[in-house]
Amino acid sequence: MDSLQLKKAAAAKAVEFVEDGMKLGIGTGSTANEFIRLLALRVKEGLKVTGVATSERSEQLCRELGIPVASLDEMPSLDLDIDGADEIGPKMALVKGGGGALLREKIVAFASARMLVIADQSKLVKTLGAFPLPIEVNPFGLEATKLAIVDVAKSLGLSGNISLRVKNNKTFVTDGGHFILDASFSRISDPESLSNALFSIPGVVEHGLFLNLANKSVVAMANGEIKVLEESDF
Ligand code: A5P
Repeated sequence: MDSLQLKKAAAAKAVEFVEDGMKLGIGTGSTANEFIRLLALRVKEGLKVTGVATSERSEQLCRELGIPVASLDEMPSLDLDIDGADEIGPKMALVKGGGGALLREKIVAFASARMLVIADQSKLVKTLGAFPLPIEVNPFGLEATKLAIVDVAKSLGLSGNISLRVKNNKTFVTDGGHFILDASFSRISDPESLSNALFSIPGVVEHGLFLNLANKSVVAMANGEIKVLEESDF
């Protein structure tokens, strides 16, 4: 199976966890898009759900495909959030934000009773950090914030390139109007300490370490097997 087929397979399994009447968090990214497409088919068959999307683009896709959407203010507590990840590591800690939606993704995950991650096997890692960690920052004081990130990382024994995200030759701007710094730390052996250290920097709005948020992961393995993993499996 190629990567897209694996994403579809994980998304198909995830749809089985959706129950009639649920208030859903709806993720962002290529795997989440597959989930949205399959969920839309169930909605056409009569399934009643309402979704809060984690990005403008996911919301647009939901609307195009006929999935009812609401804002998080209209529906501030959700039953289940289904989203992709860039890395799934020990204790189901995640790196997210490769698609730049980490802030809304984390707000929605936190507002949800449960979070289900959908991914292909390539996302399973023994240690987080090979995927550059997205750090959402306020544009004001960008260089000062970057220096502060270098400093706190150093105090934790971490180093690596930290680059401002650029897309189509322009600085990437998030749905919240912020910038993203991608930090190539390679190995994040203590995600909790890094998370706390990053939050000590005023210009850091959010970071892509999702700790103690995911309860279950549906992972499509390269051999076609679909694994449903709980935190205790890690
Ligand atoms: C979006 O900001 C990200 O957090 C995505 O959930 C993550 O990058 C996974 O995306 P893919 O499913 O496209 O790999």
